[in-house]
Amino acid sequence: MEDIILLTGAGKGIGKAIALGFSSKAKGDPSFNPVLVLCSRSYGDIASLAEECEALGTKAVPVEADIARLDSIDRLVAKTLQEFGTVDCLINNAGVGRFKSFTELTEQDFDYTMSVNMKGTFFLTQKVFPVMENRRSGHIFFITSIAAETAFKSSSVYSMSKFGQKGLVEALRLYAKECNVKITNVMPGAVYTPMWGDAGEELKEMMMMPEDIAGPIVDAYLQPSRTSVEEIVLRPVGGDINS
Ligand SMILES: NC(=O)c1ccc[n+]([C@@H]2O[C@H](COP(=O)([O-])OP(=O)(O)OC[C@H]3O[C@@H](n4cnc5c(N)ncnc54)[C@H](OP(=O)(O)O)[C@@H]3O)[C@@H](O)[C@H]2O)c1
Repeated sequence: MEDIILLTGAGKGIGKAIALGFSSKAKGDPSFNPVLVLCSRSYGDIASLAEECEALGTKAVPVEADIARLDSIDRLVAKTLQEFGTVDCLINNAGVGRFKSFTELTEQDFDYTMSVNMKGTFFLTQKVFPVMENRRSGHIFFITSIAAETAFKSSSVYSMSKFGQKGLVEALRLYAKECNVKITNVMPGAVYTPMWGDAGEELKEMMMMPEDIAGPIVDAYLQPSRTSVEEIVLRPVGGDINS
């Protein structure tokens, strides 16, 4: 049986590693047949990632979408359901950050961050959840952050959006428990991805790598149906950067 996995923010960083993590797992396990719906705003990224997944033997479909726009969310979900009929797993990974001191953050920084991290995550989940609720099975991951619980000086708007995502996780869990749907909150510390811009070698040494986050997500998805991994907290061994 196929597992239809809808993954946002798949083109780079953690999302790309998750797609490759599922594909590599499936290559070594013929009983696991993930089908990946790969979403981001940059079609080139997800199209070449789909080719990498297909080369590993996993079916992957790139769908260009901007989760900050409700019409784009509608098209993403409609296309997925039209082509595959259901969603077994939604991975809310797409996220953005504007990292500046509190007084420097602009209305544009605020709106941009909230429109992706909060509004996009909320409405995409709201569109997909009823599919899982009706069939009484499914798994939703939220890639939030350590910044969903711990504040950092340069992360006021980002943290606000991530604390908000954690609020959604906890509220949704109340619904999900009633219909056998699993909810996993993934809270990574610093991971070396394009989100950090040109971080430099010194900072890179202090960070985790995207595949370190992907592995536990794949393992959590493959737990027996009776078991839900509710939280995954991953930190660089030396602790948080800027703490
Ligand atoms: N890196 C870290 O240290 C870290 C730590 C904890 C949590 N996280 C969280 O992990 C998630 C992934 O982060 P990352 O570091 O991998 O970021 P990244 O390298 O910047 O990649 C983000 C991905 O999301 C896509 N994306 C952004 N906005 C989107 C939108 N509106 N609609 C659809 N796709 C969108 C981007 O592609 P396009 O721009 O082409 O759309 C890209 O593929 C985020 O939620 C982030 O907050 C990251």
